[in-house]
Amino acid sequence: MPETIKSMENLLSMLDSLMREPAPFWNKFYCNRTKGVPFFADKPDENLVSFVEAGVLQGGRMLELGCGPGRNAIYAALHGFDVDAVDLSEEAITWAKERAVEKNATVNFTLGSVFDLSPQSEYDLVYDAGCLHHLWPHRRIGYIEMIHHALKDGGYFGLTCFAPGFTEMGGAMEISDWDVYRDRSMHGGQAYSKEKLNEILGGYFEVVEIRMMKECTDNDPVFGVPFLWTSLWRKHSKG
Ligand SMILES: C[S@@+](CC[C@H](N)C(=O)[O-])C[C@H]1O[C@@H](n2cnc3c(N)ncnc32)[C@H](O)[C@@H]1O
Repeated sequence: MPETIKSMENLLSMLDSLMREPAPFWNKFYCNRTKGVPFFADKPDENLVSFVEAGVLQGGRMLELGCGPGRNAIYAALHGFDVDAVDLSEEAITWAKERAVEKNATVNFTLGSVFDLSPQSEYDLVYDAGCLHHLWPHRRIGYIEMIHHALKDGGYFGLTCFAPGFTEMGGAMEISDWDVYRDRSMHGGQAYSKEKLNEILGGYFEVVEIRMMKECTDNDPVFGVPFLWTSLWRKHSKG
């Protein structure tokens, strides 16, 4: 590959090349389905369910980014949404498709990177459960702009991501964007303070809710761990 930086895309690719390649990592991560990772349980996020049950999210078209084995996409498809769901791990997409068949749910699961998407005002809901906090900071600007373009005016963006201060419980450290490059690592994911979430998303969306996820037990029908933010944002309506 020529190593001349002539465009922003060249610059992003150069920075990608300094970091761990994500697809092999995630494929290995999903290889053993029985290893007890909390979000391997086939249950939707408690916050997603609460907004559907409250009638705030009322169906329409949904795009799930970094859908993994499909637990939220499948729930949404069974509750009135027409769902497109994307993940770069072949292992995850294969698992998600198997689950959808078992549950008789129709979801358009696609293998690919979220960086290759360019939807335009198509979706009522974009959902990200734990993808953003694994994305390199240099890719975040384009990612958030893509989500903003993907949504219809007044559409919602649901996000769960690591909150700072819970590393002993399975959470992640809050490290600065610059430290990610000094260390060439996000050390398992980047925690976001509430202020940083507002800083990166506030120019695009208004906040509907930001709160800590409710902790759920194995017996609960929904998923919840105490070290994540859950948040819902709304794209400004025109006029
Ligand atoms: C912590 S997992 C969450 C999976 C799923 N959302 C869930 O909560 O069950 C993060 C997911 O993001 C996916 N991912 C990371 N970078 C991605 C990218 N550039 N494009 C698409 N998916 C990506 C990974 O493959 C992984 O499945």
